[in-house]
Amino acid sequence: MCGIIGYIGDRPACQVIVKGLKRLEYRGYDSAGIVTEDGRRLFIKKGAGRIDELIERLGLLEMPGKRGIGHTRWATHGVPNDVNAHPQTDCTGRIALVHNGIIENFAEIKDELVAKGHRFESDTDTEVIAHLIEEELRGESDFEQAMRKALLKLRGSFALGIIYTGEPDRLYFVRNESPLVLGIGDGENFAASDVPAFLEYTNRVVFLDDREYAVITKDSWVVKNLDTGEVVEKPVHEIGWTLEMAEKAGFPHFMLKEIYEQPRAIKDAIHGNADVINAVAREIAKYDKIFIVAMGTSYHAGMVGRYLFQRLAKKVPIVEDASEFRYEFEDIIDEDTLVIAITQSGETADTLAAMKLAKKKGAKVLAIVNVVGSMATRIADLTLYTHAGPEIGVAATKTYTTQLTVLTMLAIELARILGTADEDYLDELEAGLKAVPNLVEEVLKHDGGIKELAESLVDKRDFFYIGRGVSVPTALEGALKLKEISYIHAEGLSAGELKHGPLALLEDGVPVVAVAPSGKTFDKIVGNIEESRARGAFIISLGDSEELGRVSNAFIRMPDMDELLSPIVYVVPLQLIAYHMAVLRGNDPDKPRNLAKSVTVE
Ligand code: F6R
Repeated sequence: MCGIIGYIGDRPACQVIVKGLKRLEYRGYDSAGIVTEDGRRLFIKKGAGRIDELIERLGLLEMPGKRGIGHTRWATHGVPNDVNAHPQTDCTGRIALVHNGIIENFAEIKDELVAKGHRFESDTDTEVIAHLIEEELRGESDFEQAMRKALLKLRGSFALGIIYTGEPDRLYFVRNESPLVLGIGDGENFAASDVPAFLEYTNRVVFLDDREYAVITKDSWVVKNLDTGEVVEKPVHEIGWTLEMAEKAGFPHFMLKEIYEQPRAIKDAIHGNADVINAVAREIAKYDKIFIVAMGTSYHAGMVGRYLFQRLAKKVPIVEDASEFRYEFEDIIDEDTLVIAITQSGETADTLAAMKLAKKKGAKVLAIVNVVGSMATRIADLTLYTHAGPEIGVAATKTYTTQLTVLTMLAIELARILGTADEDYLDELEAGLKAVPNLVEEVLKHDGGIKELAESLVDKRDFFYIGRGVSVPTALEGALKLKEISYIHAEGLSAGELKHGPLALLEDGVPVVAVAPSGKTFDKIVGNIEESRARGAFIISLGDSEELGRVSNAFIRMPDMDELLSPIVYVVPLQLIAYHMAVLRGNDPDKPRNLAKSVTVE
């Protein structure tokens, strides 16, 4: 996720763009850059760091020109540094562009362009697009046509802002699976990833749809279909949001926005890893001694990873809380060990310490990380990114479901390589994973009902979350989410454990949340639900079997899916329950007390 803002009009472009970038910083903040044009040539200033820092260091507010484009980056390909910051240009320096998204086939396009003599400066997938347009311009004098031809060769997601010196009166903006909206002014026009970037100047907007592009001049705008080049009629909407609401895309909190972003984030995790998963799974296949280390929510992802690896690839990793691993396993790690570290921030002190210990002992370290260029990626031998985009809410939501997505992809690939599961079944599971974003969309439609449920539970003191098998970590994660933002005591446990002590705590009205997808142990968990009901518990169940409706006080009907995919989808209602409980109790879910987004101390 990155932020784009473009301006064309009579104001100094750099000033409008800098303001816009500040409002888009929540979309990414590891580097930023601006291109403007003064009627003769392009001016580019860019670098690693936050906008405020770059205003000073690069003089972002002293750039000539009344048209330009800015970008705030959240790295996906290439670490955050000055060279990889956007805008990126072609060989001639006449085309500059900024990009939000992931180009899946950039490596093959880059190879072809290198063979034709193009020289690249950055490690980004974005630079490839500028060179590809330059290449098309060799055989096509019309820039718009050349641009279209080039873009039709791209696979993946992209929102682009493009400026070309040969056409001094216009800017181009393209959307494919990454957001882009036009702002329509009087004698000036805007485009951005999100409305707050220009809301100060205009509230009249045009939302682009996938595979559409816009040509904007100072006094006009037109939207066309990327595939056919034909004009598309688009309505102009008037936005009634305040700036603060707009920053959160109309959601009252970042956490809720991030919960709703999950379908998109999961898609990006799948696209962003499609090309690399096989090579990493091949590496994992070499090891029998595998540890998964992580903390908190990432640790729960690791637990799901264990179930996936053992069920599909018949490999049983030891999942250990990194703060324990670093002290308890020192003598056991050696060159034959693989350590998989899961950390969204890439900066958690205990996880980094566990990784360093593993390296010192000669083990191979694979990191699954959200933040590109973070410390974990520098320690690891191999890194897979979750591509969730920046997560502002302290409670991990989309970073968790994307971690699960990557682990599912890994387990499927590993099972293929090792021949440990039926090929047809693995194909089905892979297709099922691709459908998960739609299933999450479906589940999000229950939000209204979940809010009502939360209203009925708001005064409860203790919650129990139970699951079996692959749903045990989901139960733990549901309980953690509730604890950390609503400050209500919650316990997650395997349903089988209930009878071994916790059942003593159940009395009239105590909520028990049962995570119960159909699968191996469905009948068993129904038995546990009955036991809890017999003690007066208030049963909230999540599942796809109508039988649950019969034994529960509240039943959240989940879509059908393979049990192994359920952790990604079933956690979503649990995130929503926690969110609504927190808000109803007057807490700020984005900033829970005593907690920080990344825990950089032991
Ligand atoms: C809970 C949460 C924490 C983190 C934990 C590890 O919502 O966010 O439990 O999961 O602090 O953080 P990372 O993944 O950054 O290593």
